[in-house]
Amino acid sequence: MKVSFSAPAQPQKGLYVVFAFADAKLGPSAKALDEATGGAIQRAVKASRFKGKPKEHLSILAPAGTGIERVCLIGLGNPKSIDETAAQEAGGVMYATLARSVFDTAVVAVGKIDGVKMTPTDFAAELAFGAKLRSYRFDKYLTKEKKEDKPSLKEIDVRVANPAAAKKRFETLEKIADGVFFTRDLVSEPANIIYPETLAKQAESLRHLGVKVEVLGEREMTKLGMGALLGVGQGSERESKLVVMQWLGAGKSKAKGKKGKGAKSKPIAFVGKGVTFDTGGISIKPAAGMEDMKWDMGGAGVVIGLMKALAGRKAKVDAVGIVGLVENMPDGNAQRPGDIVTSMSGQTIEVLNTDAEGRLVLADALWYCKDRFDPRFIVDLATLTGAIIIALGHEKAGLFATDDTLAKRIEEAGEKVKEHVWRMPLGDEYDKMLKSDAADMKNISGGRGAGSITAAQFLKRFIDKTPWAHLDIAGVAWSSKDAPVVPKGGTGFGVRLLDRLVADHYEGR
Ligand code: BES
Ligand code: MN
Ligand code: ZN
Repeated sequence: MKVSFSAPAQPQKGLYVVFAFADAKLGPSAKALDEATGGAIQRAVKASRFKGKPKEHLSILAPAGTGIERVCLIGLGNPKSIDETAAQEAGGVMYATLARSVFDTAVVAVGKIDGVKMTPTDFAAELAFGAKLRSYRFDKYLTKEKKEDKPSLKEIDVRVANPAAAKKRFETLEKIADGVFFTRDLVSEPANIIYPETLAKQAESLRHLGVKVEVLGEREMTKLGMGALLGVGQGSERESKLVVMQWLGAGKSKAKGKKGKGAKSKPIAFVGKGVTFDTGGISIKPAAGMEDMKWDMGGAGVVIGLMKALAGRKAKVDAVGIVGLVENMPDGNAQRPGDIVTSMSGQTIEVLNTDAEGRLVLADALWYCKDRFDPRFIVDLATLTGAIIIALGHEKAGLFATDDTLAKRIEEAGEKVKEHVWRMPLGDEYDKMLKSDAADMKNISGGRGAGSITAAQFLKRFIDKTPWAHLDIAGVAWSSKDAPVVPKGGTGFGVRLLDRLVADHYEGR
């Protein structure tokens, strides 16, 4: 969907979007339109249940007195409670209601309203961002879908007092949306299309944005001693890969000549679980619902999308993104329950359940990350455990952290972008549950309790002293229902959150 910004003017035809507040109080453009149409807007409001609440909308057909064919009134609620995410959600609701109209363009009037803290410029940009996020659709394989069943809306033209400023602000937001869309695409693709090699290729496409991308194959990983990651992939026909992405944007902000001198600051790092399909391996999963395991690379998808967003908006930060890419399949060469593997860290692992594979992949990816880059922090993302869905449902991601400052910052960033996280505990008593009689640790606790915590505890053994946070996104990477700025399907959960974390705390410092 295309977004443009232009100076305020009431259109003479087509589709026109205006706003109303709590108690159906009309905004300035709605009021002007009401006057131009002999009170048609107020009459339509009175003849409906529309109260101007957030997420409410009212469609008004062909009001007399202007050439406008359809007016869409969008509710914003109490002016005092309008913030960034409220503007985004209004944009999302707007897109969703207009997508199935007959119009390909909507003119949207954003004016100044008393009591709203945001400037019209910011409101316009955030509204457009929300509309854009909601407009995502993964329809490339729907070859027979009729034109009338596809969304008609192709463009929104936002009318606002300072269109140039709104456009400038939106340009940054659009780069974030590009990152989110990339993640959603990768997560939505089936596992016959996206497997380690092709997912690595997708990551390589970030080179055109200035991201340095290295791809390690099984030969290189064998040399590095990544027995934990390689063991997971050994039952697959597809070669396992490890992708290292680097966006070095910090130096670009500094004055010329300064770069290179002085101590180079440490990068920040993101690590993702990229199991392109998780059958469970020899500890095979039940058939029902197994198709969901195409998005078991969701953590890797977020890391790749985040790198795209950071590079796209030229974030003033040095960021490393590492994704461990494997396919977990059962075959004659597959890892067996009871196998003992040696990780890059030297620690040995008894693999009692081949379906607890994400932690094995991350063990080597995390160790490699801290060993090579010594980052300021590592945040990893993984669709790691079904247990986190039992704990938190699909509303929040599980957050585990060794560093309270980092945890707090992630929680705050999550609140700001409405990608919520909930902190879960770590502790020695959980760590003990990983004790094995045959190796340094086992990959499952064996009991039914605390499944997400023991998984996190396992990861922690491959982190050492680097400040670390782990996001278990098994419940939030995919959604079965539409939300205002997230259509059902791959959500891209984590891209906006981590972009915000970077923007608020790690850029230019
Ligand atoms: N990829 C799954 C976790 C998962 C489950 C993600 C459902 C999304 C939805 C992971 O690899 C897995 O199989 N975990 C096991 C761990 C168990 C064997 C200790 C689980 O959660 O059942
Ligand atoms: Mn599994
Ligand atoms: Zn998995």
